[in-house]
Amino acid sequence: MSSTTSTRKAVIPAAGLGTRFLPATKAMPKEMLPVVDEPAIQYVVAEAAKAGLDDILMITGRNKRSLENHFDRVPDLEATLEAKGDTDKLNAVRQATELGDLHYIRQGEAKGLGHAVLCAKRHVGEEPFAVLLGDDLIDERDELLSTMLETQERLGGSVIAVMEVPQEKISAYGVIDANGQDKVTGEDGKPADVVPVHALVEKPPVEEAPSNLAIIGRYVLHPAIFAELEQTKPGRGNEIQLTDALQAMASKPAEDGGGVHAVIFRGRRYDTGDKLSYIKAVVTLAADREDLGPDLREWLKEFVGQI
Ligand code: G1P
Repeated sequence: MSSTTSTRKAVIPAAGLGTRFLPATKAMPKEMLPVVDEPAIQYVVAEAAKAGLDDILMITGRNKRSLENHFDRVPDLEATLEAKGDTDKLNAVRQATELGDLHYIRQGEAKGLGHAVLCAKRHVGEEPFAVLLGDDLIDERDELLSTMLETQERLGGSVIAVMEVPQEKISAYGVIDANGQDKVTGEDGKPADVVPVHALVEKPPVEEAPSNLAIIGRYVLHPAIFAELEQTKPGRGNEIQLTDALQAMASKPAEDGGGVHAVIFRGRRYDTGDKLSYIKAVVTLAADREDLGPDLREWLKEFVGQI
């Protein structure tokens, strides 16, 4: 579903050092690690494009060249495939180059997610914009970003995506306090899908987590966030945290771009941020594919019987 809102810009931070995947990421950004047969970053760019965001700014760091190359045309390779009549591969190669206008900017210093987003200030200007984190993949069959864009247009301020996670995992995320409203049921008896956010805290200890609603890597931000980020002091991990800037925005008046709402996502999300989750993501997505799924599922059953 393509969005009907006027938001056009997406920011994708891709400057992380990828140390969890060394040595694979020694000479290659972690965003280029393949998830089945596409680099992880391509899923994220495709998700943005599908929601109508066709102006995409990547905040890159070292090794940005392979990212740029991946989303660029390769005339000689395309000519070879064309001459061979290999249209499947030709389409696969071209797919990444047709997703929108891509722009790149370097973060320079790795000072945290908040700092990476601040690097987008000049490019974004005065419009609301989306931020998509590459470690989180949202299943293309499930809807999230368009809902967030529409929610932002309807309610103003900023909109984040959250998901219920088991208590023992909560400290790996930013966590929201929705004043218990996540449990409020609407008229049709379903849990509320959009809740006002009263407070946000970055990676709290389990006993201090205000809820089990974890921030997942999708945001639609009011441009007033930039002025806030400029004043945000380093927080957890001595990094400038987007969560801390959003915490300040939550209590600001609407006329100053304040207010934060959370869309509760109940679909399929794959985490590619650490080795085990990454392997699970690759297996899950491959098992669902028409071309690979039947054989892989068969083999997985055999394999599980042996361990
Ligand atoms: C970032 C955010 C965190 C959020 C997470 C989602 O953390 O700071 O609030 O919950 O992404 O993936 P990171 O995982 O980059 O440390």
